[in-house]
Amino acid sequence: MKKIIAVDGPAGAGKSTVSKICATKLGYTYIDTGAMYRAVGLKVLSSGKSVDEDLIIEMTRDIKIELDEAARVFLDGREVTKEIRTPEVSRAASDVAKVGFVRQKLTELQRQMAVRGSVIMDGRDIGTQVLPNADLKIFLTASVSERARRRFEELKQKGVAANLATIEKEITARDKQDSEREIAPLAQAEDAVLLDSTTMTIDEVVAEILRLAKD
Ligand code: CDP
Repeated sequence: MKKIIAVDGPAGAGKSTVSKICATKLGYTYIDTGAMYRAVGLKVLSSGKSVDEDLIIEMTRDIKIELDEAARVFLDGREVTKEIRTPEVSRAASDVAKVGFVRQKLTELQRQMAVRGSVIMDGRDIGTQVLPNADLKIFLTASVSERARRRFEELKQKGVAANLATIEKEITARDKQDSEREIAPLAQAEDAVLLDSTTMTIDEVVAEILRLAKD
């Protein structure tokens, strides 16, 4: 059985949904690295100050980010699990994710979290930068219209008012920023398995990852 699994891909590809299910089935720890960038984004936004690189670095220096077994997220000791899921925080997460200091700090934390193995970690740079020696690397994607539709449904279920066309625009902009940034851009690792989930159900994606994790 593969002990360290990395799942990367663009926004709304279903990484966290399938990673969570796989982790439960395998008895592994699920680590949502996007939640960590979101926590930094939320902290910067909540400061109310005008955002520049110096502020982002200052806010990250002594930041405390914790993820528990139930995938709850704590920022400086306060639970922010729901608060980090808004479109504003998505944008802020992608902005802070460009800053080298932030990436270094979170990458270090993520490696520590994976040290004991039996983990499935999802993000943008897990297979390429954070855990280049992962036993299994998945690059999970789907068409942008399908990813926008999924995010729309997710927000609707949470009772958040949303517009499909706006979501598609936001996802496209964030993917572009994440793929084009200088440090650790969103990219498929050479040795990653590409899974296009556009026409696959969650169960099918989970089954495929579990099959790949077995050999
Ligand atoms: O859930 P969704 O796919 O929309 O995003 P997420 O995984 O929560 O990540 C939010 C943002 O954090 C991304 O748009 C990236 O800019 C950044 N991120 C990153 O740079 N590196 C990671 N390993 C994970 C997330």
